[in-house]
Amino acid sequence: MARKHLKAGALTAPLPPVLVTVGEGERANIITIGWTGILSTIPPRTYISVRPERHSHGLLLEHGEFVIHLTTTDMARQVDYCGIYTGAKVDKFSACGFTRTESKEVGVPTIAECPLALECRVAEVISMGTHDVFVADILSVSCDERMLDSEGRLRYDSVGLLAYAHGEYFALGERVGKFGFSTDKKRSATPSGKRSAQSGSANKAQDKKRKSKSSPATDKGRAGEDTGGRERAHRPFYLDAPRGKGRKKK
Ligand SMILES: Cc1cc2nc3c(=O)[nH]c(=O)nc-3n(C[C@H](O)[C@H](O)[C@H](O)COP(=O)(O)O)c2cc1C
Repeated sequence: MARKHLKAGALTAPLPPVLVTVGEGERANIITIGWTGILSTIPPRTYISVRPERHSHGLLLEHGEFVIHLTTTDMARQVDYCGIYTGAKVDKFSACGFTRTESKEVGVPTIAECPLALECRVAEVISMGTHDVFVADILSVSCDERMLDSEGRLRYDSVGLLAYAHGEYFALGERVGKFGFSTDKKRSATPSGKRSAQSGSANKAQDKKRKSKSSPATDKGRAGEDTGGRERAHRPFYLDAPRGKGRKKK
């Protein structure tokens, strides 16, 4: 397969185009953010990357809290609107017809219409270039009950989540597998689809280990998805190296 090299750029996709609420009371605002993700499972940590010239940037520095909301295809227009207009001039809550509800752990409001909301408190702000990264602890998560199945597990395929890829909005596609399905013992095939050289017993051991770790949506393991409980065992050597003053110069 021939490959072509493109100019270096921030081209990871798809991303969740999230609505982020910032500020409190009458000054509360909504900003659309594409540069977001998860940094750590335990403690649960996330980030949003925001240009200093945004109206929301000042509100983030002032209040140190925000709420990240996942969005759906039927709110794509509002998502785009909150990423074009500035809260310095318009009230995006009323322009978009969104309802403010009280959050559990932060003073910033939650948007009632959004399927999933992560309440966050800023732990660190790091300048990266064009954007400042607001690293934050996730203090609480709330969701639309329609996202939960009968066993209380989060179903991301139940509400029509919106995706964003390089300037365009898409509907999240169909579910094609679940965590660990590549080791499905019934198929016993390699990830490429060829017959596995690995014995069935090795697969069985992995399945047993995985099952013992699995837990409902709200439990630590599941919320963090593919951790498999490996965080502690897999500590990289450079984290144990001396930092700051004590560090040897090379
Ligand atoms: C899909 C989409 C993703 C965006 N992602 C970001 C982002 O990650 N960081 C950022 O600073 N601005 C981003 N923007 C631009 C801001 O949302 C936009 O400048 C917004 O009007 C700022 O609102 P404010 O002035 O009320 O803070 C994005 C816009 C859109 C439409």
